[in-house]
Amino acid sequence: MNDRTANRIPLTLRKTFGGKPALPALLIATALIVAAISCSTIERTVVTPPHIPSAAFVGDAKCSECHQQHSRNFATATHSVIRTEWNKEGTIGCETCHGPASIHVESGGALRTIVNPGKSPEVCFECHLEMRGRFNLPNHHPLGNGMSCSNCHDSHSGPAIRQNATALAGFNSTCVQCHPAQRGPFTYQHEALREGCTVCHDPHGTVNAKLLTERNGNLCLKCHVDVRTSNITVGGLPHQFLMQKGTCWTAGCHEAVHGSHVSTSLRF
Ligand code: HEC
Ligand code: HEC
Ligand code: HEC
Ligand code: HEC
Ligand code: HEC
Ligand code: HEC
Ligand code: HEC
Repeated sequence: MNDRTANRIPLTLRKTFGGKPALPALLIATALIVAAISCSTIERTVVTPPHIPSAAFVGDAKCSECHQQHSRNFATATHSVIRTEWNKEGTIGCETCHGPASIHVESGGALRTIVNPGKSPEVCFECHLEMRGRFNLPNHHPLGNGMSCSNCHDSHSGPAIRQNATALAGFNSTCVQCHPAQRGPFTYQHEALREGCTVCHDPHGTVNAKLLTERNGNLCLKCHVDVRTSNITVGGLPHQFLMQKGTCWTAGCHEAVHGSHVSTSLRF
């Protein structure tokens, strides 16, 4: 996702609604301050909800009139912590991601009157600054073309980072929806996958090929080294010289790193 695409939504809005001065400046200012306070308490940088020219905040209760589905379980969502009291009449939570909604509501829900972060991650980056950087690293999941933060994160209910009884049953199932080759079942499954795909891959972006968290044997030695001396032993076998030939998963050694149907030592 590059910045040009990311900026598209606010620009469209600006064009549609012209340059009228933002009416409820006081309200917005209040909300900004509250948002800034609530975010600073969790050590995130000061945050401004997305700006929609001439639009005012309407509060969460309004959204639930038309979007029962999204509103119903919002209290269970990780992001319900960003809800802020508003004008003693209610709370603003939805609009911290979707922007002030008065124009959207008055138009009966016309498209392009409100920010949809499913189409651009820009608003997520406003609060999660480090993610903008991660998605700019040389290797990253490609955002856009139907892929967004929402492929992996839930904004409207439950934990934002999906989870389940075990990591394998939980997050891995999201990954293998798009990466069926890693799904298995393999005759010889690499038990590392029980810890989750993210023990080896950064889901956002890394400097390393294949989104790996480490570029060399250290990736595997995290779990496998027997003795960390000048004589490296892995699985009871001396690996000192083997490891100079390349990474564990190249050089014909453990190429079936996710699992194998033929090789207990995950060779191919
Ligand atoms: C008067 C009814 C109504 C209210 C109130 C309302 N919406 Fe909507 N909204 C709609 C309709 C209708 C759509 C279009 C749905 C569709 O076409 O799928 C929509 C679409 C949306 C979309 C998708 C827009 C897009 O361009 O993809 C978002 C996001 C949204 N609403 C958020 C909100 C939020 C947040 C609130 C409260 C602040 C809210 N809405 C209040 C009726 C409403
Ligand atoms: C953390 C940011 C965030 C918050 C807070 C949030 N949303 Fe959303 N919303 C999203 C994202 C991301 C999408 C894109 C699709 C998805 O994730 O479901 C979206 C999409 C929508 C849509 C468009 C329909 C769709 O599913 O694509 C509606 C309607 C909507 N949200 C309503 C709400 C309402 C109502 C609230 C408050 C109860 C709310 N949102 C709070 C991030 C947020
Ligand atoms: C207004 C600021 C704000 C916006 C906008 C926002 N977030 Fe968050 N996000 C938060 C806060 C606050 C938390 C809770 C942090 C905590 O509990 O440590 C959070 C938590 C998360 C978490 C869980 C982190 C954890 O360690 O459990 C994920 C994932 C996440 N957000 C993704 C998103 C995505 C994706 C979007 C855009 C759709 C988004 N956020 C938009 C403020 C925001
Ligand atoms: C391919 C799936 C995927 C995509 C796409 C994705 N995330 Fe994540 N994200 C994850 C997983 C998995 C974790 C948990 C990481 C862990 O447990 O090590 C996570 C964790 C996070 C966290 C918690 C902090 C951290 O570093 O662990 C935040 C914040 C977050 N994601 C924000 C985002 C935002 C914003 C986007 C979109 C710009 C996004 N993510 C896109 C899978 C994804
Ligand atoms: C919505 C679909 C989707 C989901 C969910 C998803 N990915 Fe991906 N992933 C992609 C796409 C698209 C690419 C880019 C493919 C390419 O460039 O060939 C990719 C690339 C990768 C790559 C790099 C592959 C390469 O050849 O360089 C790895 C590793 C990866 N994903 C791991 C994961 C993990 C781990 C998860 C779960 C946290 C995950 N993916 C979730 C769609 C997805
Ligand atoms: C033990 C570490 C480890 C774990 C756990 C792991 N991977 Fe990998 N993955 C790797 C390594 C190493 C490579 C690079 C293989 C290569 O270059 O031949 C890789 C490559 C990939 C690729 C690129 C495939 C290709 O043919 O180039 C995808 C996609 C991928 N992994 C997805 C996943 C998914 C999804 C999970 C969780 C189900 C997962 N990985 C768990 C280490 C791991
Ligand atoms: C999160 C921890 C973890 C990581 C990281 C990890 N493994 Fe494993 N691996 C395991 C566990 C647990 C087993 C099963 C128990 C055992 O045999 O030690 C296993 C088993 C294996 C086996 C089968 C051993 C046998 O003969 O039965 C091979 C080969 C292997 N791993 C290679 C690798 C390679 C190559 C990497 C790096 C790409 C790697 N592992 C990274 C945890 C991990």
